[in-house]
Amino acid sequence: MYDRNLKDKLDDKKTENSLRKLPFYSDGIDFSSNDYLGLARNFSLKKSIISALENDQEKLGSTGSRLLTGNSKKTEKLEESLATLFKSEAALIFNSGYTANLSVLSSVPTRHDTILYDADCHASIKDGLRLSLAKHYSFQHNHPEDLLKKLANCTGNVFVVVESLYSMDGSIAPLKDFATICKAHGCALIVDEAHSTGIYGLNGSGLVCENHLEEEVFARIMTFGKGIGFQGACVVGSEVLKQYLINFARPFIYTTATSPADILHLTTIFDHLKEHPEYAPRLFDVIEFFRKKLNELSLNGHFLDSKSAIQALIVSGNHEVKHISSKLNEAGFHVFPILSPTVEKGKERIRICLHEFNTEKEITDLLHHIVTIIHE
Ligand SMILES: Cc1ncc(COP(=O)(O)O)c(C=O)c1O
Repeated sequence: MYDRNLKDKLDDKKTENSLRKLPFYSDGIDFSSNDYLGLARNFSLKKSIISALENDQEKLGSTGSRLLTGNSKKTEKLEESLATLFKSEAALIFNSGYTANLSVLSSVPTRHDTILYDADCHASIKDGLRLSLAKHYSFQHNHPEDLLKKLANCTGNVFVVVESLYSMDGSIAPLKDFATICKAHGCALIVDEAHSTGIYGLNGSGLVCENHLEEEVFARIMTFGKGIGFQGACVVGSEVLKQYLINFARPFIYTTATSPADILHLTTIFDHLKEHPEYAPRLFDVIEFFRKKLNELSLNGHFLDSKSAIQALIVSGNHEVKHISSKLNEAGFHVFPILSPTVEKGKERIRICLHEFNTEKEITDLLHHIVTIIHE
């Protein structure tokens, strides 16, 4: 009986052309994964991880919450080195960026406080807001003046939440402007660095560090499932913030801790990244080549202006964007359509993620196919 209700809702999605399915990863040229630095497919790194695991004497699973049996010296050691890397007093590891955002936003702001967040923030931030007792309002995407306007009506402590780099359009936040406003108005700035971790700043320390703003930011969410090529996340900030999350953040307390094997995996990746500073500059070369080619092929008008690894070809309409995406898939390019309502109706897009390993030939071929398809 209840299945009927569910089926009706699924049918609605089908009618809107926005029904989601779980795809299998195909063999196409990767222009879609978040593996910006190629670490998830790096075989010399894989060998180092296997060897570290072989020589490890610790149990495989963490066997409980960090507060019970799930803590380990290795986890604390990695947290110390993450705090050093991200230039903060402390770091606390989470199983995912999703739970890191839920943790910070559901536990830190109280019912008397206000959260102002960028309208384009990720679903994990929005879900954190739903769990929070604080009032919350959005401001226009990457718009410091709109943030200033919204500040006028806030009560209690004010938390401002932004991402450093946005996944739907590749735009980079004006972090300095936000930090200046927050400082002047006594607000706590929270920055989600999911798409900049590993790529910007010394040894991949992120955009806050690259802009020397670590002292101005209350909390940063650094994730390990994208540029770092694995999974998990950490929140970086003061030691007091870390102890507070350990005591009050339910998504941290009531879950099985990251396994010792995964901690070892992550430790090996961060060591590898330190020894290989060449990945990020190679990614920036790829981005520059891509933008140069867009210019040459007069495709700029079809793409959003982005200086990052995330590029977006705007194709209005769910049906149209799916059609172009499947044509590119058939031609051997792994790309995904981003449908409304994930993005605004009329601004549906094909997201193209660039990677350190994408070759000039792959990019040239992809863009020539796009030219052909959009002129058909
Ligand atoms: C901005 C942002 N924050 C958080 C997350 C969630 O991170 P994770 O995949 O580690 O749960 C994502 C993932 O897509 C993201 O794009």
